Amino acid sequence: MARIGLLTGGGDCPGLNAVIRAVVRKGINTHGHEFVGFRYGWAGVLSADAIDLTHESTSGILHRGGTILGTSRTNVFKEKDGLARVQASLRQLRLDALIPIGGEDTLGVAGKLSEAGVNVVGVPKTIDNDLAGTDFTFGFQTAVQIATDAIDRLHTTAESHNRVIVVEVMGRHAGWIAAYSGLAGGADVVLVPERPFDIDEVCDRLRRRHALGRNFSIVVVAEGATPKDGQLHSEFEATDAFGHARLGGIAIELEREIEQRTGFEARMTILGHVQRGGTPCAYDRVLGSRFGVEAIDAASEGDYGKMVALRGTEIVRVPLSEALAAPKLLDPKVFETAEVFFG
Ligand code: F6P
Repeated sequence: MARIGLLTGGGDCPGLNAVIRAVVRKGINTHGHEFVGFRYGWAGVLSADAIDLTHESTSGILHRGGTILGTSRTNVFKEKDGLARVQASLRQLRLDALIPIGGEDTLGVAGKLSEAGVNVVGVPKTIDNDLAGTDFTFGFQTAVQIATDAIDRLHTTAESHNRVIVVEVMGRHAGWIAAYSGLAGGADVVLVPERPFDIDEVCDRLRRRHALGRNFSIVVVAEGATPKDGQLHSEFEATDAFGHARLGGIAIELEREIEQRTGFEARMTILGHVQRGGTPCAYDRVLGSRFGVEAIDAASEGDYGKMVALRGTEIVRVPLSEALAAPKLLDPKVFETAEVFFG
């Protein structure tokens, strides 16, 4: 029997509660463990702000979006005496191990803590699907479905008005959401961070399509996409504790440029946080539950310094370091498949 702390860090993501429920359910039923949940990610660990997690407090949450624990983008190693404060919290709460559920930043902190001797097992989370070591993160499928539903709706209004509609989706380093939702939604152009775009080529493609008799088009753009000779677009100056700029707004530029250059009427929509909100789809509930069960089994065996991961159809454990080496960029073959349907 052990005492284990859970936390959810970084941007929230549909399926976080499924992981929490699975860790606690399996941990209590099979291993007889006790659990606390830290409030607001690493911020709660730094200040020993935790609640007890029991059968009761984790039941009825499977279908709920967000995270019952709250989250934040707190970087332990940017805080004064961060490591010592984490160690003090673990001692104070008599914890044997931590299960952080997060993306590159949250798990990056977990990796450094692991090197410093803290017992951790990570669970990969991000709607962006850009974490290495796992084929998919939970939350991604839900985000793709939300974006696809939006593209379907934008299709009908684009057709009615003979417009080009630019849809901006999330995806800071990687174009997974853009490529998947673009493919599923029948986009005519998809722009992703991995392939800096040439605005002249985008306009030529739209002109060719319209010359063939189509009078509307859908352009899907990832927030992290950049023009070949330009920079990452951000409407904001601030960066977060991990040095990431707050993105958003490339669609505004594209709407203006496309309309001015082609003469086609254009409108843009930024989907933003709607992609992260609400109930997780079945796939993400199942993946989150499978990750949670594997994470508590790993912790129970003392198999620390690992991240649970999906490889093919199997849930496996990979070293945290492998997961953190570099972001997992969009598979070029997925983009090439989406490209078959452009124009
Ligand atoms: O990292 C996931 C993500 O959804 C990115 O795609 C996006 O840039 C970012 O989070 C937005 O985060 P915030 O909630 O801080 O605005």
